[in-house]
Amino acid sequence: MDVSLISRFTVLFLVASFSFTSGNKFEAVKHLNRLNKPPIKSIKSPDGDIIDCVRISHQSAFDHPSLKNHKIQMRPNFHPEGMDLNYESMKVSSENHETITQLWHLNGNCPEGTIPVRRTKKEDILRASSINNYGKKNSLSTVAHPNSVDLDLINQSGHQHAIAYVEGEFYGAKATMNVWDPQIQQPNEFSLSQIWLLGGSFASDLNSIEAGWQVSPDLYGDNNTRFFTYWTSDAYQATGCYNLLCSGFIQINNQIALGASISPISKYHGSQYDISILVWKDPEQGNWWMQFGKGNVLGYWPASLFSYLTDSASMIQWGGEVVNSASDGQHTTTQMGSGHFPEEGFGKSSYFRNVQIVDGSNSLRAPKDIDTFTEQPNCYDVQTGKNDGWGSYIYYGGPGRNPNCP
Ligand SMILES: *[C@@H]1O[C@H](CO)[C@@H](O)[C@H](O)[C@H]1NC(C)=O
Ligand SMILES: *[C@@H]1O[C@H](CO)[C@@H](O)[C@H](O)[C@H]1NC(C)=O
Repeated sequence: MDVSLISRFTVLFLVASFSFTSGNKFEAVKHLNRLNKPPIKSIKSPDGDIIDCVRISHQSAFDHPSLKNHKIQMRPNFHPEGMDLNYESMKVSSENHETITQLWHLNGNCPEGTIPVRRTKKEDILRASSINNYGKKNSLSTVAHPNSVDLDLINQSGHQHAIAYVEGEFYGAKATMNVWDPQIQQPNEFSLSQIWLLGGSFASDLNSIEAGWQVSPDLYGDNNTRFFTYWTSDAYQATGCYNLLCSGFIQINNQIALGASISPISKYHGSQYDISILVWKDPEQGNWWMQFGKGNVLGYWPASLFSYLTDSASMIQWGGEVVNSASDGQHTTTQMGSGHFPEEGFGKSSYFRNVQIVDGSNSLRAPKDIDTFTEQPNCYDVQTGKNDGWGSYIYYGGPGRNPNCP
């Protein structure tokens, strides 16, 4: 950690601590002790994170009353198969995709039988508007609801999307997405790119599983691009959280830390780095599993967390979301994806390639009838396409404020 970073953290901490009463600080320490389980090894990541290797059976998921007696599944009973595109043939083409890892791997690994957990710092909690909000989306959060009569409401909450989506009955979703480092104008804004698996109505009972990458200064204290997950079973109200910041997701993998920085990042007009995410439902147990990259099965969301998603997902979305707080009366300059519009294409725009769904026969296949949605196409836009190398693909993103998006 360089000195300027340390002093920045200190300043952040001092500013934050003045806005908290000492009672809150006491609560924050208690919350910290609940979240951070005793590690058997810790690894200091070059970005300042500490990654704790925590015994699988000690992870915070098992603090949840309903998961106290949960029998942990060490592998899925089922793994969906289907069309696998020939990645090697694409590598030799001019379109180059490199594989990427997480930054903390530079300084060590977690042993078998443990999971890597990003340690929560006191200043992480103190940055949240309240201890109870730490790690959660605020309840004003919205998913894009393409057919909603409530578009005004979506617009008012300041969340903007550029997504492709399908509706029906789904048992999983997959895609490979390139990774960028969008600029964020205000610390309370964020920019994320992810897959959404949604169930239920868009009212108070929405069930959602989300996974992708995000830049969120408020959540992490920096502008790094991080791999993340989210879930809720009541439309972002009382249940759910990012990563492992509440009981819910059960991790079994010792390679990938939720919330950790990914590196390297795609360069405009340069190398493109992408990650693959697959989420699918185990037809026997009903749990929703997640895989990162080619072979990293990370863990699962137990079926018991959900209501609608206990059966199937009714909508899948792929794309980006940003918060536009319009703090200076203009549209935010916070970027989505690469910060460039879909028209610019490969090497410049952000993409999802090999977009697939898991159908009723538990096979991976390209989605039919893919639609798109964006609140303000002049700020952030989305386009879909199909070809032999990429299957179904999506270009999405944009710069936010520009002459056509004042
Ligand atoms: C994040 O980036 C913004 C500019 O985009 C900058 O003003 C801010 O200081 C950065 N925050 C941190 C914690 O580095
Ligand atoms: C959202 O608000 C912006 C700015 O007020 C407006 O231009 C746009 O049409 C709205 N979008 C939707 C989908 O209502």
